Amino acid sequence: MQSPERRQAIIVLDFGSQYSRLITRRVRECHVYSELVPATTTLAQLQQNPHLDIRGFILSGGPSSVYDEQAPSCDPAILQSGLPILGICYGMHLLAQQLGGHVAYASGKREYGPATIEVLESVAKDEQNFRIFEGIAISPAQTEHLDLPRSETPLRLSAWMSHGDSIDRLPPGFVVLARTESTTVAAMASPQGLVGLQFHPEVTHTPQGKAIIRNFLFRICGCEPGWTASSAIEEALEQIRQRVGQERVICGLSGGVDSAVAALLVHKAIGNQLTCVFVDTGCLRAGEREQVVDTFSRHLHIPLVVVDARQRFLARLAGVIDPEQKRKIIGEEFIRVFEEEALRLAEQGGPIAFLAQGTLYPDVIESTSHDTASTATRIKTHHNVGGLPAEMSLKLVEPLRMLFKDEVREIGVALGLPEDWVWRHPFPGPGLAIRIIGAVDEAQLETLRAADTIVIEEIRRAGIYRELGQAFAVLTPLQSVGVMGDGRTYANVVAIRAVTTGDFMTADWARLSPDLLGRISNRIVNEVPGVNRVVYDITSKPPATIEWE
Ligand code: XMP
Repeated sequence: MQSPERRQAIIVLDFGSQYSRLITRRVRECHVYSELVPATTTLAQLQQNPHLDIRGFILSGGPSSVYDEQAPSCDPAILQSGLPILGICYGMHLLAQQLGGHVAYASGKREYGPATIEVLESVAKDEQNFRIFEGIAISPAQTEHLDLPRSETPLRLSAWMSHGDSIDRLPPGFVVLARTESTTVAAMASPQGLVGLQFHPEVTHTPQGKAIIRNFLFRICGCEPGWTASSAIEEALEQIRQRVGQERVICGLSGGVDSAVAALLVHKAIGNQLTCVFVDTGCLRAGEREQVVDTFSRHLHIPLVVVDARQRFLARLAGVIDPEQKRKIIGEEFIRVFEEEALRLAEQGGPIAFLAQGTLYPDVIESTSHDTASTATRIKTHHNVGGLPAEMSLKLVEPLRMLFKDEVREIGVALGLPEDWVWRHPFPGPGLAIRIIGAVDEAQLETLRAADTIVIEEIRRAGIYRELGQAFAVLTPLQSVGVMGDGRTYANVVAIRAVTTGDFMTADWARLSPDLLGRISNRIVNEVPGVNRVVYDITSKPPATIEWE
């Protein structure tokens, strides 16, 4: 049994690979807790966390070459710790180099994409070294499509490669476990539980990747599969109680799953010391405000204040066409309303010391990792409902900051959040204002709300709501000629956007059936006054974004 105070953990050191987060997720999917930390993190720093019973390390891939002057390295104390280490791609090169081997640019032998890994039969007999590939059933179907020459060894698996460097001298004590056509060291291991893989077991293009990761966790690190997101609830509650004490907490609800689960956890921990605030910006979907009141106040009994700020938001948005300007106005106004409300609550019931936020692990990683966030071009100013107003000097409670979205959903279910809520599509902070192209007014909002309701109703009716990342209507200022009955119409064009996506960073337009599109179009034109034409957006992201503004 793992004690709740100290849980088995695998630490992933981030050397900048686009797959680093994925490694952490894969480990957690195997029910072992895992954290992603910057590559510069030292063993001493990690050991300061009394809750972590570190069982092993994974060194991620990365864009550098280990022989570059500025190449990131790993605290030698980690390599000397005696704990098992799995090095993936760059991580494997680092293991090799820091332990006395050699890595060089493999001119003409670079591999990007699928490759066939041949596990060497001679090492298959050596139990200690072979643990990483043990028990992996390899069906010919998984390699046949690669159409590579048959080899004598029956152990072949297909894997995802992305490297230009190769190991040309093993560190002392290591053996080669596998090779590919162009790489002599596709996998290596030492009896102490140090393993290097040239390929990426964390991606789905490596079909046996998960089994390989499981072998590392359970056969090499000796972990027990005990961790689940729900098992983190008790610990989260204790941490909230310790941090907050007897103070009051305020939480902005956005109508999305993250702020809802954060509020539920905080409420479970400290009860009515929490007050939730929901701001009606006037740019909400139909029925949104009623649903929030119904779920939080009536169903979950969480103290909730609804602020009707429709007039002030619409007044400030009047005549504004530029999307960035709209986003800025809504962001600023939201903070003002929130501040005023916090002051009012403080006057009534005593000072408020904390702001609860539904910050997720990917946001935390983003702000601590050495990735390109700071140099990336600004595409849109994202305004997050519940964002911390700088002048309010509230301390933060972020109970979800170590969790991924799917784990937050799991906790939401465990805490009694209705299923419908748990699986809601994300809705942007600026709301319908960025789905009305051009100036926003009450009439346009009414039109869009009606069209949007039809889109969602029909998508739910078709049973595909959960398959889609997001689906909604966009009201364009474009007017076109139509004919209804015997009369000419001259009215607006509504666009439908529906996307499938994993992380909302990239997305593809959903292949909705023509019948479904037909039903949506028919209903919108018949039921929504002021619209006489419906078009479907068939652009992926990139080059388009999901929202139109
Ligand atoms: P884009 O349009 O950039 O959107 O492809 C990616 C995801 O982010 C959502 N989005 C927002 N979310 N505040 C939010 O909380 C915002 O200002 C905002 N703008 C876009 C969008 O709905 C999609 O899920």
